[in-house]
Amino acid sequence: MNTIVTGLQWGDEGKGKIVDYLTESADVVVRGQGGNNAGHTVIARGKKYVLHLLPSGILWGDKTNFIGNGVVLDPIGLVEEITRIEDQGVKVTAESLKISDRAHVVLPFHKELDAAREASLGDQKIGTTRRGIGPAYADKVNRCGLRMADFLDREFTEMKITRRVQEANETLAKWDLQTFDPKEVIDQVYTAFERLRPHVTNIIPELSKVWKSGKTLLFEGAQGALLDIDFGTFPFVTSSNTTSGGACTGSGLPPTAIDAVVGVCKAYTTRVGAGPFPTEDDGLADYLHGLGREFGATTGRPRSCGWLDTVLLHFACMVNGVTGLAVTNVDGLDSYEELKICTGYDIDGIVHKYPPADRSFWDRAKPVYETMPGWNQDTTKCTSYDQLPENAKAYLNRLGELCEAPIAFVGVGPDRDQTLVV
Ligand code: GDP
Ligand code: IMO
Ligand code: MG
Repeated sequence: MNTIVTGLQWGDEGKGKIVDYLTESADVVVRGQGGNNAGHTVIARGKKYVLHLLPSGILWGDKTNFIGNGVVLDPIGLVEEITRIEDQGVKVTAESLKISDRAHVVLPFHKELDAAREASLGDQKIGTTRRGIGPAYADKVNRCGLRMADFLDREFTEMKITRRVQEANETLAKWDLQTFDPKEVIDQVYTAFERLRPHVTNIIPELSKVWKSGKTLLFEGAQGALLDIDFGTFPFVTSSNTTSGGACTGSGLPPTAIDAVVGVCKAYTTRVGAGPFPTEDDGLADYLHGLGREFGATTGRPRSCGWLDTVLLHFACMVNGVTGLAVTNVDGLDSYEELKICTGYDIDGIVHKYPPADRSFWDRAKPVYETMPGWNQDTTKCTSYDQLPENAKAYLNRLGELCEAPIAFVGVGPDRDQTLVV
């Protein structure tokens, strides 16, 4: 059974944990989009790992992990990440990590261009992770980006980098940002590329063989549906298709290879960066931050928090074709008296059931809530779905009903073992 694991909110839903859990019965884990803007936390055997570009399957040792063509890969960042994870005792070998030769590259100046774009937007800034994601995808679509395969031709690559650095410097100088010496960029990037070279290959036939041989593939999504470049809260989104279709275009595996889509959401909602967030609730944020929860895995920024929003979730299930929901962080609501679920947006007196495309609507969208009683009980020790308090089950049932998707997994703690199968 080949499964896509995808985020249904604004990222940080707990995809890393669910992928890690499902990896046990998979042979291969594939990342198909995003870059090191992602931060996936896995807690296994009491140890915490945060992964940015490496698929979470790397922690299992005996799985093959693929970084697909749809990813934008920062070679310097990836080498740092490999070093960090190896320091934690995880081996990264040419067999355990394979990188698509078609993956586009994030170069140091892309990060500064990201900062420049943010500066130019003033109070309309997106609040990006500053990992150069937008500018790298822009170069890809603009057909002037570099791909991993290009590094094999040093003369060509040096010429391309020099030209792009010169162009980037003009923009950066305007914003008083750091400019770059093409030679230094080339040296830095080639040092990283030499470390990555054994991993770089044409992964498409390999993945196809894995599929045809009946092995199990797991696709690890990054970000979430509301950050999708097409379906998200544009322009406050990331620059890739984070929804399930992105797994296919980002890996070279066709839609016919996919059997299931697990949509991951929190039992409440969080968001980092700017943009609309109708169910945002400062009281809930204070409560969760007070518990030491909801600080970003990539940037450490406190995440904004709010009530469960099934307008967004239902839409996310629809565009992803979700076959099962994984609801994480149920334990986060353990001691809340009364819980709210948003079932519609009141915009100028009309209740909307789908997220609007018109950005001016977002400011006027007032959530329509249902309330449900909390469960006031510790769920972190529950080892089966049946052991959950009745009110927690009722809350989850209502969530599934409103999203028209069955609940498949429930998270009651950050640890690998705190995952309940429904
Ligand atoms: P991802 O980007 O979707 O992989 O999610 P992140 O790792 O950025 O953020 C999810 C956070 O929630 C991490 O700190 C996880 O360790 C944590 N987490 C995941 N599932 C659960 C859960 O069921 N309960 C609790 N308490 N924490 C969880
Ligand atoms: P994971 O995979 C949460 C957000 C940024 C910003 C917007 C654009 O851990 O769920 P970008 O750097 O991509 O250009 O930023 O997207 N963002 C994320 N938010 N989790 C992520 O990844 C994110 N990746 C990007 O905060 O609002
Ligand atoms: Mg994250």
